[in-house]
Amino acid sequence: MKPLQVTSNFTVYEQVEELPHDLKQLYQKAVLARTNAYAPYSKFSVGAALLLENGQIITGNNQENAAYPSGMCAERVAIWYASSQYPNVAIKKIFITAISSKNKVTKPVAPCGACRQVISEYECKQKQNIEIYFTGETGAIIKANSINDLLPLAFDNTLLYVT
Ligand code: THU
Repeated sequence: MKPLQVTSNFTVYEQVEELPHDLKQLYQKAVLARTNAYAPYSKFSVGAALLLENGQIITGNNQENAAYPSGMCAERVAIWYASSQYPNVAIKKIFITAISSKNKVTKPVAPCGACRQVISEYECKQKQNIEIYFTGETGAIIKANSINDLLPLAFDNTLLYVT
């Protein structure tokens, strides 16, 4: 028996102004995407913007449903759209932001567990890390260099092919 310590590293930007220019642009796309969320039940609108390797920016937002579990998060809407349209183009960065009409979202909105699993799948597929930036409506932005920092000890396809 021995301990196994897992550490994660993040960068915190106190405000949007601290971000480099290209990331400010990605942030703005995520903010715009957030305005088109369909979130009549939670009133929590999430926007996600992906920067692809070819320079294209793909966005998505959460799409809710009266049958609650049939809804979908912004990150997976964006990622699956990107993968369906550009299956061989790697995702370099994802920016996530959220706003609510119920309360001010001042804390960074991290991707949910299911979205982390999906981001992990595409990191494995493309054999390249995806930088993940997340924020609320206001306040700090947190950056992870890879999904490994948000989903350590992940279940991935290497476990399926063990002989
Ligand atoms: N949501 C996302 O879009 N992304 C996340 O990572 C967390 C949650 C959405 C799902 C639902 O429409 C609303 O936020 C409230 O949970």
